[in-house]
Amino acid sequence: MKIDVHQAIFSLMQSQVVGLPTETVYGLAACLNKPCAIEKIFKLKNRPLANPLIVHLAHQRELTDYVTEFPPKFHELAETFWPGPLTIILSVREKTIHPLVRAGLSTAGFRIPNQPLTLQVIKETGPLVMPSANLSGRPSSTNPEHLEEDFGNDFPVLDGGKCTRGLESTILCHRESAWVVARMGALAAEDFEQVLGYLPQNMTGKTEARPICPGQLFRHYAPRAHLLLGRDQMSMATHILGFKGRKYPENKRVFYLGSLEEVLEVAGNLYFLLRKLDEEDVSYAWIDMNFPKEGLWKTIEERLKRAASF
Ligand code: TXA
Ligand code: MG
Repeated sequence: MKIDVHQAIFSLMQSQVVGLPTETVYGLAACLNKPCAIEKIFKLKNRPLANPLIVHLAHQRELTDYVTEFPPKFHELAETFWPGPLTIILSVREKTIHPLVRAGLSTAGFRIPNQPLTLQVIKETGPLVMPSANLSGRPSSTNPEHLEEDFGNDFPVLDGGKCTRGLESTILCHRESAWVVARMGALAAEDFEQVLGYLPQNMTGKTEARPICPGQLFRHYAPRAHLLLGRDQMSMATHILGFKGRKYPENKRVFYLGSLEEVLEVAGNLYFLLRKLDEEDVSYAWIDMNFPKEGLWKTIEERLKRAASF
């Protein structure tokens, strides 16, 4: 059910959960100061309580309510990338943020989204927590119809159209005197090089016993369809996720992610097409993994591998 900005503000103030657009993916929003609404988010998504939520702000100055110490280069990062698809993990004064939001950690993730309607909402309601608006484990939502699929036609959603980025925010965390990427996302590691003076390393690998982002431990981004990534597995598939301009066998139905020259187009279509496979009841889809392995393509590769690995 589509709602407008005023209805969204009203419902949030009444401790309801609503769907809000951001430039990355749609979020399930609740007011940071309403723990009963935050509990509803975990139930609605069927989300493990060990997976903390990101706090969304309208202004950087609001951070001083929660954070007392900022790591080196924090302000440069915030000035350069906010509002935008960057989440920064910071140590917080624990009393100021409910443990449910932090999953009991002494840190919280913060970001200022770059979506005018949602910024208008946050300015009225104050900070909001917002996980991606999908049932836990499913691909994130990049348009309002995806929320109807997961939460039913009556679920209230503020319509912001198709998300421009289509991938979740990149999460940075400061550890042992350097910034590291705790979740790959809509900004590539290379995007931070100029501001930081070095390339932040990835701390998202499955090899780590305890990843920085608890969310990395859980099933993610997966459609019901089996995704086949191996070069030799194409024959098993009825459908292909591929690239414009490439030739694929004529007996397969091809869904085009976009052009190999337009990584932003591919990112923007990724979750939409993973969900479309389910809409069409596809059992086996082959993914064309022959694409560049640099910049934002690395996030796309990571999402596809995770989606395929369950
Ligand atoms: O683009 C985005 O970030 C979207 C939009 C709606 O803003 N939100 C989003 O939220 O992707 P979610 O809940 O799907 O993913 C949040 C991730 C999880 O992997 C969680 O573990 C991590 O952020 N996270 C949150 N707080 C953290 C903390 N204090 N320390 C480490 N990781 C944290
Ligand atoms: Mg998510």
